[in-house]
Amino acid sequence: MDFPLIDRAVDLLLRSKHTVVLTGAGISTESGVPDFRSPGGIWERYDPTLFFYARFVAEPDVVWRCLIEMNSSGSLSLWDARPNRGHLALAELEDMGLVKAVITQNVDNLHQKAGSRTVIEFHGNMLVFRCLDCGRRYGYEQLLEIIAEGTSLPPRCECGGVLKPDAVFFGEAIPADALNESFRHAQECDLMLVVGTSAQIEPAASLPIVAKGMHSMFRGMGAFFSKITSHVIEINREPTPLTGEVSDFLIQGSAGEILSLIVQKVKEKRG
Ligand code: APR
Repeated sequence: MDFPLIDRAVDLLLRSKHTVVLTGAGISTESGVPDFRSPGGIWERYDPTLFFYARFVAEPDVVWRCLIEMNSSGSLSLWDARPNRGHLALAELEDMGLVKAVITQNVDNLHQKAGSRTVIEFHGNMLVFRCLDCGRRYGYEQLLEIIAEGTSLPPRCECGGVLKPDAVFFGEAIPADALNESFRHAQECDLMLVVGTSAQIEPAASLPIVAKGMHSMFRGMGAFFSKITSHVIEINREPTPLTGEVSDFLIQGSAGEILSLIVQKVKEKRG
């Protein structure tokens, strides 16, 4: 564990006027929800085309059968997962007034379950279900009732329309309000913690670049002029394309352990 880097992160956090956190699947692996690209991850187990919007529209029953198998298989307890110490640490930093928002690529609702209040769901939420015809939304418990009553898949709305998880499938747009709010925070922040993401999927992967001010037309000059005092810190098991290019430094290791240590040291410093 790189304690000097953790101390630097704590100092930057305490000096920051606007800290925002970007999380990816890596923060949820300690809750039993596998990530996508690590060995044994979701894309090794399931066909990514199941999460293509066009395929859902064409074969909703096939996709729903897979979703139910994923959740009941026990190996991917998405719908029943519990927040871990990483989620809880971020909720505590928000309570302390040190984090303004969590922008998450995850669809597991775990930040909300941990108590985070300002959570921007960049890729929607897999525990909310929307009718493709009338737009009505259903919660997880309501869906379970519909599935229990129904004889065939896909589950349907009272209007007869097909219900789709409200997560962003490939080929769908990022919800406009989440997109705008996320880039506003990235533009305005002076510190971004990037936790548990391989930073490979756009447009989320551009948020740290905007946070560092490197998006401007004068690439590099933007970093120099527009956000000369902004910092990006990665917390991740492994280096990513941001490491050494965009982020100030990578604290390598378990997100849960590192974030818990950060909260502990913040409390020690604040007395
Ligand atoms: N602590 C820290 N880092 C971790 C941990 C952990 N406990 N577990 C995994 N990681 C790291 C992995 O090493 C990897 O670098 O988290 C990262 C997870 O990367 P991905 O699996 O690519 O997940 P993510 O970056 O969230 O994917 C982005 O891709 O498929 C789409 O929509 C999907 O939102 C997802 C997007």
